[in-house]
Amino acid sequence: MKTQETSELHQFFIQQLMDVYNAEQQLIEALPTIAEAATSTELRRAFENHLEETNMHARRLEKAFEFMNEPLSSQKCQAMQGLIEEGEEIIDDTEDDTLVRDCALIVAAQKVEHYEIASYGSLRTLAEILGYMEVATLLQTTLDEEYAADDKLTSIATGYINQGAEEEG
Ligand SMILES: [Fe+2]
Repeated sequence: MKTQETSELHQFFIQQLMDVYNAEQQLIEALPTIAEAATSTELRRAFENHLEETNMHARRLEKAFEFMNEPLSSQKCQAMQGLIEEGEEIIDDTEDDTLVRDCALIVAAQKVEHYEIASYGSLRTLAEILGYMEVATLLQTTLDEEYAADDKLTSIATGYINQGAEEEG
């Protein structure tokens, strides 16, 4: 790559990191309400656990900025704002202590996870292209946790299938 291209790609990469940093911050603010809205203890715990992880995701992004000697900053992530607003609508539209509420929360949360998986997967590869291997490793660690959080939600939802089957006898 030409120097000019490398520096343009670097700038683009930094902007995308700012975007995902803001996405994580929005999620840190939203997750306590989402956790509280859950009906089942298992789902609430999954959200609480992911809140702790999300705090770590923000820390890792701060480290990434440090590695590259870039000032830490964030840029409003419109996509995450939309996904969170959808989640809040779901809470308003469904009743407390219902299976519908939990299923709806899982749908909303998995949309968030998939957005994050897409973001971190692309950013990890960009870090590799730019030769920022430490940063790529940080992003991969977070990516693995996003995948695990998504799997956990699928397994909680699958538990509802089995429950339904038992109840129907
Ligand atoms: Fe995250």
